[in-house]
Amino acid sequence: MEEQIANRLSQIDKARVPRHIVVIMDGNGRWAQKNGMDRYFGHQEGVVSLHKMVETAGDLGVQYLTAYTFSTENWKRPQEEVDALMALVVIAIERETPGLMKNNVRLLAIGDIDRLPQDTRNSLQACINATSKNTGLTFIIALSYSARWEITEMVKAVAQEVKAGELAVEDITEDVVSAHLTTAGIPDPDLLIRTGGEHRISNYLLWQLAYSELYFSDVYWPEFREEHLYEAILDYQKRERRFGKTGEQIKLNK
Ligand code: IPE
Ligand code: IPE
Ligand code: MG
Repeated sequence: MEEQIANRLSQIDKARVPRHIVVIMDGNGRWAQKNGMDRYFGHQEGVVSLHKMVETAGDLGVQYLTAYTFSTENWKRPQEEVDALMALVVIAIERETPGLMKNNVRLLAIGDIDRLPQDTRNSLQACINATSKNTGLTFIIALSYSARWEITEMVKAVAQEVKAGELAVEDITEDVVSAHLTTAGIPDPDLLIRTGGEHRISNYLLWQLAYSELYFSDVYWPEFREEHLYEAILDYQKRERRFGKTGEQIKLNK
């Protein structure tokens, strides 16, 4: 097994590792239920998977990793589960901050942070501040995030600038739009990984995913390990990203 994992790792072309990987960490609840446990244990185990993913991505030289941790729609879950998830975020951040420092990881958050409970916001902000000067992997957690929320906020911000006379309508370009999203300055994802068997985007990074490669895994998130990440990257490296051009053009680098 160990040998097999090492073998997969050795097949990865280190020069073509995706710069930005985004993950929809799905399947925590079903994993717990499958094992006769409460959904909460699935979320707890999901934190372990995320810890391993941050380490593995950093080791591979991935520059950005964005993890869908809690969506705008997830606020509609039973209050008990929402509360447990918010408390788990605090526990995880406090436990993980020393490791993030040691591994030179910078934490960022995207989403409607104002909706989070005060203690969740506080520990998040403390970790963002503590890791702000780290220069390795940028680890972005999407919390209370949805793409439609984000796009709506972007439209409001752009409209305000137009209204204030700071921006002309003719000057609204794709770059202007990108610069007004929560991901401003962060390169678009190269690879999206969704675990847990569903084949949908669930309101994640709709603008940013325009040309990302999509990879779906049936593995439940609490069981997702480095070998699964290697598998996803190897699959990604087999693909030809054409961005609308022909295969011929890509081969000739035109
Ligand atoms: C993903 O796992 C984690 C969150 C959405 C917070 P789920 O909790 O959605 O797990 P399933 O899909 O019910 O198995
Ligand atoms: C998507 O998972 C959001 C996160 C992983 C945080 P869900 O389990 O909420 O997705 P849907 O609603 O089943 O599509
Ligand atoms: Mg789910």
